[in-house]
Amino acid sequence: MAIQWFPGHMNAAKKKAAEQMADVDVVIEVVDARLPAASCNPLVEELRKFRSKPCLKILNKIDLADPEATAAWVRHFEQDSSVTAYAMTTKKPADVAKVIDKARALAPHRGVATKPLRMMIMGIPNVGKSTLMNALLKRRVAKVGDEPAVTKTQQKIYLDMNTAIIDTPGLLWPKIEMPSDGLALAASHAIGANALIEEEVATWLAEELLRRYPQLLQARYGYKDVASMDGIAVVEGLAQKRGYRIRGGDWDFEKASHMLLQDYRSGALGRISLETPETRAAALALFQEQ
Ligand code: G4P
Repeated sequence: MAIQWFPGHMNAAKKKAAEQMADVDVVIEVVDARLPAASCNPLVEELRKFRSKPCLKILNKIDLADPEATAAWVRHFEQDSSVTAYAMTTKKPADVAKVIDKARALAPHRGVATKPLRMMIMGIPNVGKSTLMNALLKRRVAKVGDEPAVTKTQQKIYLDMNTAIIDTPGLLWPKIEMPSDGLALAASHAIGANALIEEEVATWLAEELLRRYPQLLQARYGYKDVASMDGIAVVEGLAQKRGYRIRGGDWDFEKASHMLLQDYRSGALGRISLETPETRAAALALFQEQ
């Protein structure tokens, strides 16, 4: 299955990001903790390495991700000495509160009024960039009380006199090389349902869940014998359990697909990661062999 990405958009975003990055001290890259490699845009890495900028890599949405897999990803990313990896959720104010200190530690020569710390938040759609930005701004409002909420000059938003965030550049699309990345991104809602058919995504997700988290499928849907099931049986079984039928009496595969995706996205199925550093390396090796 081929997934489109848009070189036109990418070129414009790349140019803008490259220009802005020159004046930044720390790049904050937000990824989805459930799929930290598939939700990276390699352009961020390329540009920040070119400009020699340190990176605070935020693995966001850990409330939805498998804690063991997340810990393995943090260790993996921190093999690069210019990266601090931080696993968090924007849902916890205490997690958000640590972001600026972690960024500051990466650029200790900055962070005073004459040399404010300048950060840039980057990442593909739907990883939580705006939520993080709003949470950071809210904290500032809470702290400084009666000052205006946002002091905005050209492209900088000042959180306080010593700390500024450069406006996010244009949309960065995920660069999808492996088809499984497209499916994982669609399952996690980073690319829209129009890009891929929900039923195909749900069947793929069911296969992944059978492989990685069969006990969660068992617990949520009461399947007796997950060992004998495939992805289609999982989705169809869900339609049967919930009594989803289309006119004429057949099982409603479309509705069941939607429900499975909803249960995964909302966390109702449990805390799930769709890749670990090991499974990522194995998938890449297999892909490159082909
Ligand atoms: P973006 O700017 O990177 O595009 O992402 P945005 O902040 O708009 O967040 C995308 C979705 O992710 C939002 O949900 C937001 O509430 C959710 N989100 C952000 N941070 C977290 C987190 O730490 N944990 C969880 N569970 N969710 C988080 P939404 O608008 O309902 O979209 P969707 O989830 O239906 O796709």
